[in-house]
Amino acid sequence: MSDTTLDIVELLLTAHIYNKYPELDVNDLPKNIRKYYWSREHKTVPKPIKVKVTDIEKLLQISNVSSHTGSLPFVDIDDMGFLMRITALDVGAEWFQKMDESRERISHNPVLAFYYEKKETEGVDYSSAKTKVRPKEVDREWIESFIEEIAKEEGGDDMLKLVEISAPEDIKQTLRDFILTTEQEDEVKKIVKAIQYKDYLKHIGLYDVGKVLMVGPPGTGKTSLAKAMSEHLSIPFVEVRLSMITDQYLGETAKNIDRVFSLAKRVSPCILFIDEFDFVAKTRSSDEHAALKRAVNTLLKAIDGISLTNDGVLLLAATNHPRMLDSAAWRRFDEIMKFPLPEPEMRKKILDIVTKEIKGKFDTEEIASLTHGYSGSDLRMVIREGVLSALVTERMEITQKDLLNAVVSFDERATIKTNEYEPVM
Ligand SMILES: Nc1ncnc2c1ncn2[C@@H]1O[C@H](COP(=O)(O)OP(=O)(O)O)[C@@H](O)[C@H]1O
Ligand SMILES: [Mg+2]
Repeated sequence: MSDTTLDIVELLLTAHIYNKYPELDVNDLPKNIRKYYWSREHKTVPKPIKVKVTDIEKLLQISNVSSHTGSLPFVDIDDMGFLMRITALDVGAEWFQKMDESRERISHNPVLAFYYEKKETEGVDYSSAKTKVRPKEVDREWIESFIEEIAKEEGGDDMLKLVEISAPEDIKQTLRDFILTTEQEDEVKKIVKAIQYKDYLKHIGLYDVGKVLMVGPPGTGKTSLAKAMSEHLSIPFVEVRLSMITDQYLGETAKNIDRVFSLAKRVSPCILFIDEFDFVAKTRSSDEHAALKRAVNTLLKAIDGISLTNDGVLLLAATNHPRMLDSAAWRRFDEIMKFPLPEPEMRKKILDIVTKEIKGKFDTEEIASLTHGYSGSDLRMVIREGVLSALVTERMEITQKDLLNAVVSFDERATIKTNEYEPVM
């Protein structure tokens, strides 16, 4: 039996079983089916799923659909050649189960696993199939539904300017691409556990968890780690753009900040990320516009009013200038995650991970020893420079010389940057 036929039958069975059992919900559907039948309006995959021939063509990239299922007695295409369905679930399910690949497919499809487990099929485990499918919150479609809904509300557009929402599946740099310090690793583990056991924490009355301040110089990975956490935890990433506060009509801003936080509670579970948190300090110490100060106070109050245990919102804030923050701002965080400039050993590891797909003969240990004071981001730039200059001479393999030159030009650049306003002699 061809894969194509199996694909079609799997889809038809999945739709049929999903429609039939009220216990099954959108998170039981395999990702491709869930994304395809997603309804923005309903923010779910409404039942019943009706499988059209054109759906099969699009979703499974199959042409000539009826030629693949013509010989199957339990598959029916309506008179118009339009809708496809299973006419006898028992017969279809039995046929499917006999196929070589069925075991593998069922183990990745919670809807099917639910059915076959009910039928007491050996080796089928619904809860294990569930772990293979990530929840709907990772999908772009889920986020887009939210954004659409909010845009329709009064003032929704203004508020959406203050935030940027990303779906976990769109986050490119994952935890696997990161080199963490031992301390950072521990912090990450604690966050993962706090989310996993958030009901327990609530039960024992530990509410002050889930607010983390990330502290360290630019380019040490604060923003990217916050995003990678969202990918890792399969929860959406909501970023507040503090710079927008100053651009907006200030009277509305305080209100919009409140709405951003209530949005985060609606998207929940999610990560709410506030970058450049030191912005808060600037407005508190200087005599800025009164409305701006009001906005910042609203922000601090809003931070107090949100929690991981009650609202499912993990708050991450980042700053390059910890000294600017006063104790009132510090007090709001229960964990501090430090982002130091990397030590030689860590620099080597970062270089190794950045160059893992790059061919050539080079010694990252030497480069690590020459790059004191470089951030992770600087190291990335060195590699990029090395790759590009190799490409100039049509080479897709880099040499140690390429990298050494890149370090020299990076150092030169740093000098230019710091001497920007020195007179030329
Ligand atoms: N420890 C690290 N491991 C891997 N990549 C890193 C590390 N630190 C920084 N980088 C890379 O440097 C770039 C810039 O990091 P970013 O998150 O913007 O830093 P920050 O927010 O601290 O200024 C990212 O592409 C990131 O992947
Ligand atoms: Mg950043």
